Parts: sequence; structure tokens; C-alpha cells
Amino acid sequence: WIISSEEVINAGPVVPVLVIKDVAHAVPLAKALLAGGIKVLEVTLRTDAALEAIRAIADNVPEAIVGAGTVTNTEQLEQVAAAGAQFAISPGLTSELLDAGNRSNIALIPGISSISELMKGRDLGYTQFKFFPAEASGGIKALKSIGGPFPDVKFCPTGGISPNNYLDYLALPNVSCVGGSWLAPDEALEAGDWDKITDIARQAVAGANSLDK
Ligand code: 3PG
Repeated sequence: WIISSEEVINAGPVVPVLVIKDVAHAVPLAKALLAGGIKVLEVTLRTDAALEAIRAIADNVPEAIVGAGTVTNTEQLEQVAAAGAQFAISPGLTSELLDAGNRSNIALIPGISSISELMKGRDLGYTQFKFFPAEASGGIKALKSIGGPFPDVKFCPTGGISPNNYLDYLALPNVSCVGGSWLAPDEALEAGDWDKITDIARQAVAGANSLDK
């Protein structure tokens, strides 16, 4: 691996879930987030521009740790690795994807929202997961409960995380980072308001750094 799942989630503490429609936004967006103290970037495969955006960031912003999100199958895992992604995140998991992740030269962080999924991933060697959709799947209470039987498993909760609740998640011992789209709002992207994105990033990182963890 270029970087392990553990290194990815420990390099947070907040991971922007990016939906990049225009590839021209990729590099200024990555630079704006870096300027605000955010290094780990998740570019979701939800737009036609996603693979090119990953390539552009990997080639032009070497300080960033750029990965792909919404990776749901083996083919996509291979495509994002070829595009220069350093890691891949999935909203869920399948046996095929877990096997492909174990063969891949980039780290896969699969998603879970139940204990059985966690056990399936753990049996295949995974101990870092996205917890998705976090708020809808029991949020902080669920993560606290999961920490009882599975204290070795670490999470990046995503889905419904906001400035109002992200610090409560980060305070949990089994939460290494949190992800969310609030860090790169669509309006700011469309407007090319990179300063706004740097400000949001800076505030989020300052809050996380103020936690005694
Ligand atoms: C994801 O893919 O991780 C989520 O769609 C992000 O969820 P959010 O928009 O609630 O942050």
C-alpha cells in the first residue's frame, strides 16, 4: 500500500466528501482545503469528472492524500487506483469488494452499518471502516455500543455529520476521523469561493484540535 487505512483515518481529523462536477475545480479546491489544514480528500465517484479530478489532484497537489469515495465494486477500485487515488472508501461492502481490497495496491476502507457487516469485514482482515449512514444508523449511541465488543475497530463516521455534532463523534475512542459534505458546500464550489472553503476547513480543524484526545 502507498498508505494504509489506518494512516488515512489518522490523518483526518475531518475528511471532506467531495462532489466535483467540473474538473477545473479539483486543484483549487484541494489547495483551499490544504490551506485550511485538511490533507485527506475523498472524491466521490458520483460525477463524470471524478476520475479526472482525482488524477488532477494526484498530479498537481502532492501534499494532499487523495482518495476515492462511493467505490462499490472491483472495477471501480481498479479505475480509481489507476487514476492515482491513494485510498478508496465504500459506503458498504461485498465479499468481492473486500477480496479486491486485499489484492489492491491501495487501501480500501469499507462501509458498515451493522455488526454482521463489521464481522464479515473483520474476518477478512479489515479493522478500519466507514460507519455509514452514521446519523441514520444510530450515530454516537451505536458507535459507543460497538466499542464494547469490538474495541480494536476504528471508524470514520459519515452521513449526517455537521458542525453541530462532529466533535461529539470525534470524542469517541473508536472514532479516528469524521467525513462529510459540509466541508465543501456545493454553493462555494460553484462560485469558486475558495476562501470560504479554506475558512470552513480551518474552523473544523481548530475545533478538532481543541479536543483533548
Ligand atoms: C457520504 O457519501 O459519505 C455521504 O453522502 C456524506 O454525507 P453528508 O452529505 O451527510 O455529509
